[in-house]
Amino acid sequence: MILITGGAGYIGSHTCVELLNAGYEIVVVDNFSNSNPEVINRIKNVTGKDFVFVEADLLDQEKIEGIFHIYQIDAVIHFAGFKAVGESVEIPLTYYHNNITSTLLLCSIMDKFNVKKMVFSSSATVYGDTDLVPIQENSPLSATNPYGNTKLMVEQILKDLSTADDSWSIALLRYFNPIGAHISGLLGENPNGIPNNLLPYISKVASGELEYLNVFGNDYPTKDGTGMRDYIHVVDLSLGHVKALNKILYSKGIEAYNLGTGNGYTVIEVINAYEEASGKKVDYKITPRRPGDIAISYADPKKAKRELGWAAIRSLDDMCRDSWNFVQVNPNGIKKTNIDKKLVVSSVKK
Ligand code: NAD
Ligand code: UD1
Repeated sequence: MILITGGAGYIGSHTCVELLNAGYEIVVVDNFSNSNPEVINRIKNVTGKDFVFVEADLLDQEKIEGIFHIYQIDAVIHFAGFKAVGESVEIPLTYYHNNITSTLLLCSIMDKFNVKKMVFSSSATVYGDTDLVPIQENSPLSATNPYGNTKLMVEQILKDLSTADDSWSIALLRYFNPIGAHISGLLGENPNGIPNNLLPYISKVASGELEYLNVFGNDYPTKDGTGMRDYIHVVDLSLGHVKALNKILYSKGIEAYNLGTGNGYTVIEVINAYEEASGKKVDYKITPRRPGDIAISYADPKKAKRELGWAAIRSLDDMCRDSWNFVQVNPNGIKKTNIDKKLVVSSVKK
């Protein structure tokens, strides 16, 4: 069985769907600190498959150990963590504790139970403010905020672990900018309050919830002066996890992989694509650059193609269409409900 931490979150939930579709048996753990129990019901509804769900905090060592006692875990896909850059600057200790301490505890439990296979959610943020594009995995690494530091530090911890014990098998997946939603409209990004990231903000402008988008700077060295990023459909990203899992189950060592499309789009291009997909106007105003933003970031995804047999296939139009569909299916976000007890089982006691 595959243990999925943070499986009720945005990327985790889509990956659960793809793993179930691929025939994997999964155990999902989440404490709902940034998600909602209804997502668990929806994973079941989308796939029609049963799986185990355990509500637990990764910092609760006893409860997590309980999962390893009960279920025969073969590998872990580790999504759980906090991810808001601005918040990480305000409450760094909370970020270091939740993202790093929980990973240390998880790795020591895995070690104890001789489960030495992990796919880790890293981020293109570990490339810092590089201006060498397309970005390759061997580019210099750095971080500019506590969130980025947690990703860089966990990568280092996992490298040290693999050096000390070469029976570990680890994939560090460096995501570029995940957007979009499941085609059913049942799963998607569900942020609370005013979003920080571009796509959730645009979708709230398109739906009329917010008046206009602030475009952070139009004096970057790009075709229209706005920032350029490598947006990747969350379903393509999830399929990358299935491929990475297939690899680590039958190999040893540690490798980093860029999960991106290799194409960069500017903020203005994304606005245009969203207007086209939604049929709605997305008003915007040009404002000063956001501190900490880089001009251009896009991946060289060839290593993932070569070694994992994975490449993103969904277009920016697909991403915008599915994002807009999710907004229409869930005009008020995903409503909180209780987990249907018949659908999922939790037999782990503290
Ligand atoms: P998310 O917040 O939607 O999902 C994370 C999930 O982990 C949530 O359901 C949350 O409740 C859970 N969680 C957090 N701390 C926990 C803990 N201590 N115990 C148990 N559950 C806990 O985020 P996401 O967008 O799905 O991101 C998943 C991972 O990918 C994160 O590690 C994130 O840093 C990384 N990542 C995300 C992006 C992005 O743009 N979304 C980009 C790069 C990397
Ligand atoms: C941000 C994080 C990064 C994280 C990633 C996750 C920062 C500085 N970086 O990356 O660490 O891994 O999210 O997806 O927060 N933009 C606007 N107006 C907005 C929002 C964004 O113009 O209201 C622009 C930005 O300047 C950027 C682009 O849109 O050019 C994408 O921004 P965003 O979605 O926040 O992602 P990143 O900045 O790439």
